[in-house]
Amino acid sequence: MILVTGGSGFIGANFILDWLARADEAVINLDALTYAGNPENLAAAAADERYTFVQGDIGDAELVAGLLARHHPRAIIHFAAESHVDRSIHGPEAFIQTNILGTFRLLEAARAYWSGLDGRVRQQFRFVHVSTDEVYGSLAEDEPAFDETHRYEPNSPYSASKAASDHLVRAYHHTYGLPVLTSNCSNNYGPYQFPEKLIPLMIVNALAGKPLPVYGDGRQIRDWLYVGDHCSAIRRVLEAGVPGETYNVGGWNEIPNIDIVRTVCVLLDELRPLARGSCRELITHVADRPGHDRRYAIDAGRIERELGWRPAETFESGIRKTVQWYLDNPAWVRNVQTGAYRAWIDAHYPRHVG
Ligand code: NAD
Ligand code: DAU
Repeated sequence: MILVTGGSGFIGANFILDWLARADEAVINLDALTYAGNPENLAAAAADERYTFVQGDIGDAELVAGLLARHHPRAIIHFAAESHVDRSIHGPEAFIQTNILGTFRLLEAARAYWSGLDGRVRQQFRFVHVSTDEVYGSLAEDEPAFDETHRYEPNSPYSASKAASDHLVRAYHHTYGLPVLTSNCSNNYGPYQFPEKLIPLMIVNALAGKPLPVYGDGRQIRDWLYVGDHCSAIRRVLEAGVPGETYNVGGWNEIPNIDIVRTVCVLLDELRPLARGSCRELITHVADRPGHDRRYAIDAGRIERELGWRPAETFESGIRKTVQWYLDNPAWVRNVQTGAYRAWIDAHYPRHVG
């Protein structure tokens, strides 16, 4: 079996659902159920006897050691993190706690467990660390995309905390020989993404007839990858990646934010037209994010060449599926828009009104 951390969040839930659909291998999901963790994401797995949910913190050394001793996973896939840049600007401490200290404690538990394994089981054990392209900082318009040798230059408390966790993971391989693999992926989108992130926020706001808040001039560029393609990359890294190595994952889809928002509007105008006018009329430019990175772009050449991974979705196919998913799941959308969600929106967006 495998142990997944943070499996109740956006990417982790997609990963577990895909895993259960493809592999005949059990999964334990260790998740603290923060505001971003949602058991509803895994409703389809709840009755599957191969799926076990454990509510807990990756930083709880005793709990993690007990889980490893009891279940003997052959791999740990580490998704758990505080993941939203804007929240890291408002309150960085939780990011330090989970992303740095939590990853450190998880590494310690993994090291103790792995050290006690024998022969082939020890040789085959893997710790997969799921990280981000944001650790590399921001690219100028004419700079080549990030490859795995790009210098680390994180600019937000979120990316700095992920960079620190990457360095710890690297050090546990170099110093102790722990068989780790790190993936650094670009922006994901798809089903079950919490509507604090750009694409789902634009969809749910448009459906409610609310303004679509675009930071600054909206010309910042992100490199978009459908979540199912990120999950297939992680499975490939687990299966065939070389311990100690890092793999950049991306969809070769550099798109300015304003074009993303316009594309969402085109789809909504087609699939769920407003009573009057176009969704584009809701686009509102607001004050920029402090320290906002201008451009991310991933050179995914290595994972393609060495592990034979390729994304299955184009941006056009993935964004259509995503918009359709939000339209088909109004109850999910309603349930995540709790008091805590509304409090975040009320606290964050007034500051941005330009
Ligand atoms: P998310 O915020 O949707 O989910 C994070 C999950 O981790 C939640 O279920 C939460 O309850 C859980 N969690 C948080 N703190 C925890 C703790 N201390 N112990 C146990 N569980 C805890 O995040 P996501 O977008 O699914 O991202 C998952 C991972 O992928 C993160 O490590 C993130 O840095 C990385 N990543 C995300 C993207 C993206 O575009 N979303 C891109 C590249 C990499
Ligand atoms: O690059 C990978 C990263 O992508 C992950 O590591 C992070 O976990 C994930 O949150 C994401 O970070 P971003 O900051 O790029 O994602 P976000 O959806 O918050 O914003 C995408 C872009 O859209 C960014 O340039 C900011 C802008 N934006 C975002 C929001 C929420 C807006 O213009 N308006 C908004 O309301």
